[in-house]
Amino acid sequence: MLKEKTDVFGRVTDIDVLNLKSLAARAKPMIGPGEYGYISEGSDDGYTMARNTTAFEDVHMLPRVLRGVESPNQQIEFMGSKLSSPLLTAPIAGNTLAHSSGEIGLAKGAKEAGIMMSQSTFASKTIAETAEISGGAPYMFQLYMPKDWAYCQYLLDEARQANASAIILTADSTLGGYRELDVINHYHLHGRIANLEGYNTGQKGVGAGGLFKESMQNLDLALIDKLAAYSKLPIIIKGIQTPEDANAAIEAGAAGIYVSNHGGRQLDGAPGSIEVLPTIAQVVDHRVPIIFDGGVQRGTHVLKALALGADLIGVGRPFSYGLALGGWQGVRNVAEQLKSEINIAMQLTGCQTIADVKKMTCTNSFKI
Ligand code: GLV
Repeated sequence: MLKEKTDVFGRVTDIDVLNLKSLAARAKPMIGPGEYGYISEGSDDGYTMARNTTAFEDVHMLPRVLRGVESPNQQIEFMGSKLSSPLLTAPIAGNTLAHSSGEIGLAKGAKEAGIMMSQSTFASKTIAETAEISGGAPYMFQLYMPKDWAYCQYLLDEARQANASAIILTADSTLGGYRELDVINHYHLHGRIANLEGYNTGQKGVGAGGLFKESMQNLDLALIDKLAAYSKLPIIIKGIQTPEDANAAIEAGAAGIYVSNHGGRQLDGAPGSIEVLPTIAQVVDHRVPIIFDGGVQRGTHVLKALALGADLIGVGRPFSYGLALGGWQGVRNVAEQLKSEINIAMQLTGCQTIADVKKMTCTNSFKI
């Protein structure tokens, strides 16, 4: 039985998380240089990756006082799942690159923290292995649309079997962005790509280019219906960066919009993810829920994204670093740190609930 270390607030601090941004430097020595490069880098010059976080500085929250707020409640329900906080482990490939437990550690950490877990098609554990540890905890499966429909059907069947509440179709990665650290490090993803192995295509040792080779490039809106009809699951479209695409996806049957620029790993030169959120939220107009990710490192970032229209907030690399440092406990610690910062920010903005956060006035200087 794990002896938990707790701080003066009673929070579990197995890996002593001071803040999310300090985790990368701590995790670096725990991960091989090629693996660390692959996880940490953005594409080209890294502009979009950096902008994802710095753009939050151009959003300001207007705090309210004398509103009788005590012990804020950050629980939400998202697509039928009850969550302790509006947080999601954003889909990330090959989690064994960070820690031998891979997606099993990620799933257990997310479950213990009461947040939503998502699993990538290119995970290093199979959907079934991950589902076993999740045991019905909130879970979504992220799909890279394969060229081979039979392989796609296999993935969707497995996801349904694993009680996935939705399928997240990633639409922005029909090929990999140009990632120079992978070139410098001659890095090819060496870990297991379990779901591919499960289907026995036997692809091993691939770089970002090879990773997406099996993926369909000519994705179109008709796919949404096709995937929904076969899987009988809600289809969320990930990689939306414009109101036009959000609207088109909803009209084509999308059950959710996922605003993301893939952690700045795909098109460098795109704006920070938070910059495109307000106009997308305006067009979506509550017809479907919105997931958001991109550069989230603080509880205040979570509040800003919620106030600008998101319903669920994805965090990617910080969970990989937490996993590298402390396995499933590290993942839980990262989530607990964010929850603690969210709690402080809710109290200081006069928000008792997440519904209050969504009504909070947030100014921004975005011209998109
Ligand atoms: C996979 O999703 C990647 O960005 O490498």
